[in-house]
Amino acid sequence: MTRLFLKRMTALALCLLLLVFASSCAEDETGQQLETIKIGVATYRSDDTFVASLCEDLENLVKEKENETGKKIILNVVDGKNSQSNQNDQVDTFIAQSYNVICVNPVDRTVAAVIVDKAKRANIPVIFFNREPVEEDIRMWDKVYYVGTDAKESGILEGQLIIDALKADPGIDRNGDGKLQYVMLEGEQAHQDSLIRTEYSVKTITAANIQMEKLANDTASWQRSLGAAKMRSWIDLYGGGIEVVLSNNDDMALGAIDALKEADMLEGGPIVVGIDGTKAALQSILDGELYGSVVNDARKQAQAMLDIGCVLAAGENPQERLRVVNGQYVRVSHRVVTKENAQEELDELLSPTE
Ligand code: GAL
Ligand code: CA
Repeated sequence: MTRLFLKRMTALALCLLLLVFASSCAEDETGQQLETIKIGVATYRSDDTFVASLCEDLENLVKEKENETGKKIILNVVDGKNSQSNQNDQVDTFIAQSYNVICVNPVDRTVAAVIVDKAKRANIPVIFFNREPVEEDIRMWDKVYYVGTDAKESGILEGQLIIDALKADPGIDRNGDGKLQYVMLEGEQAHQDSLIRTEYSVKTITAANIQMEKLANDTASWQRSLGAAKMRSWIDLYGGGIEVVLSNNDDMALGAIDALKEADMLEGGPIVVGIDGTKAALQSILDGELYGSVVNDARKQAQAMLDIGCVLAAGENPQERLRVVNGQYVRVSHRVVTKENAQEELDELLSPTE
């Protein structure tokens, strides 16, 4: 073997290596991309109904994208179990394993800077979702994105549900005193959606000249069982005096319905509304229990995350490649659901991703 031959072989081997490992644009002679994309997803807790459905959508969309593009996409979803230190370790592991993109649903949205710092040092783009970090942290690096919704819009639409319901049935003001006596089930106190949904649902109703009288409010941390427990204690205190139950999400609203059923107060009882449009909530609307909800479109959010993730993994700029991306934020819009369109929403939710 001549030295020249050896040199050429080494060069060829190097080229091949580069072809296989180059993070994005490696192509074979048919023009097909060769690389595998590794996406790490760190959830704040995996037993959260909405977050779980978003992750399920993500898994389905990944399969579809693999078929479409012929690329291998490894999606690894991990559970932070509501502990920021767990989540930091999980992000460290994704970084150590050279993931191409990391999606983070932060446990504590006020400490996102720590995650951005680490990711930036490793040059791995980050997509935060569902729990919104402060803007300053997002702006730390141009490879940081946020995918979520506009919390104010969800609050306004929830308020609108009550306005429309009262128009259709003035008997919702059961004691006829011209005011709606209500209780408010709130999500986690530190979550942007809790504070904003609470504020704007009530503001929207009062702006329509409907008087509201708050009987009670408290957090039930997004959870059905805690929502039921709160509602039980409010039923003990106010009984039939509760005319409206406003809930920051569907799970807690369904918890309130559980408690009303136990007390045999659902029929002819208060009107209950939620936010998310989960499968269980849509079913409850169809059963005539939950009055309505506001769809927090998990599939569209998952789609945006995947699209942004793939573009970033290819070393390209989402702002140039994707129409939905304007700056570092993607906000998916909400829509209301009542018994008029619950079946349609449910069919859509159950339909395969297209
Ligand atoms: C909200 C959603 C809640 C809960 C929470 C978790 O947007 O409405 O049900 O999933 O996010 O961060
Ligand atoms: Ca009243």
